[in-house]
Amino acid sequence: MESSLQVRGPIDVAAERARTPGAAVTHHFNAAGSALPTASVVQAVVDHLRLEERIGGYEAAHQVADRIEAVYGDAARLIGAQAPEIALFDSASTGLRSIVDALRLGENKSRLLVSRSTYVSHALHLMSLGREHDVELVVVPNDPNGTIDLTALDGQLASGGPAVVCVAHIPTSSGLVEPVAAIGALARRHGARYVLDATQSVGQVHIDVTEIGCDVLVTTGRKFLRAPRGTGFAYVSAGLDLPPTAPDVRGAVWTASTSWELKPGARRFETWEASIGARVGLGVALEEALSLGTEQTERHLVARAASLRESLAETPKVTVQDPPCSPSAIVTFTVDGITPLRVNEQLGRLGVRTVSVPASHAQWDLGARGVDAVVRASVHVYNDDDDMAALVDAVARIATGG
Ligand SMILES: Cc1ncc(COP(=O)(O)O)c(C=O)c1O
Repeated sequence: MESSLQVRGPIDVAAERARTPGAAVTHHFNAAGSALPTASVVQAVVDHLRLEERIGGYEAAHQVADRIEAVYGDAARLIGAQAPEIALFDSASTGLRSIVDALRLGENKSRLLVSRSTYVSHALHLMSLGREHDVELVVVPNDPNGTIDLTALDGQLASGGPAVVCVAHIPTSSGLVEPVAAIGALARRHGARYVLDATQSVGQVHIDVTEIGCDVLVTTGRKFLRAPRGTGFAYVSAGLDLPPTAPDVRGAVWTASTSWELKPGARRFETWEASIGARVGLGVALEEALSLGTEQTERHLVARAASLRESLAETPKVTVQDPPCSPSAIVTFTVDGITPLRVNEQLGRLGVRTVSVPASHAQWDLGARGVDAVVRASVHVYNDDDDMAALVDAVARIATGG
């Protein structure tokens, strides 16, 4: 089996642009929202839809069964897991919700220890669990670097009772990278479960679930993986034998009037219905991510984003809003006297695609920092020097009212 650690050459940006039609259309800095897919990913989806048109959805699914099976192996390979530990979902949030519900926090009287980096949908789900199932929810403070305070987490873990730690590897609201392996070591030492939201990190940085020590990882397809929308996957460690709270025909066999048997492995969390075309596209995106190499991609993206952060920091009236520990492909900033929403609109008019992230998407981060919103620019392998210059020039023009 080919290793994702295999040493490959540097990223060939021109080649990446050539296979990414959207790269010629705008200066696209929104991989953290939904990245530009390659032509091959889109073609695979379109071909599958055409097949469904000709022979029917179930018959088409039967024809590509081997390709779908390969998706589990490739997803596992990308994050250092085994294929039976992978479940496919339509989003990261769906995966997180069904797996966290299966932890039955209320019944186990578990406390939920969460990072400030938690994504809005996850926070809403976890707060609802807290309210409805009498689960104690603790938002662990950050240290001065902006990452979760490991001493505070250690103290919380030591203060008794079973706990589940829930952390976003890289948040939606900044370039922060959480110390995920150190968190894993603490969780293991205290016998806590560890759920990692890797939605922004899979496809962006090198990930090995064994090194990180998480029990569960969830991610989405459309961001740094460059897969179609409506795709996602989760890793559930083989050591966790969790019954889903609402098994589906895909995850269980109804064996007699009132009995059923769960399927082995993580697939017990899946639902029958899914976009098979999107999953075929996910398969192509996974193959492409593996062939680029996760370490090469991480090195390239982190360097590009660092240089973008530097250029923006030198631009008058611009403040980079990333916390000190931000070695990721996400760059956040504000412009004096102009709302991020307005900056984003003006950038759009100049052909530069970013997004404005409001505090309502990250209350425990932006809200707690007293920042109403930020402009977020996220780089990917198809962004070239011309894109970078266009973004910095456009921001400078907007900042000076030009
Ligand atoms: C850190 C983080 N986690 C989770 C999500 C949710 O992903 P999905 O929309 O696939 O559920 C997002 C989406 O932006 C995110 O940025």
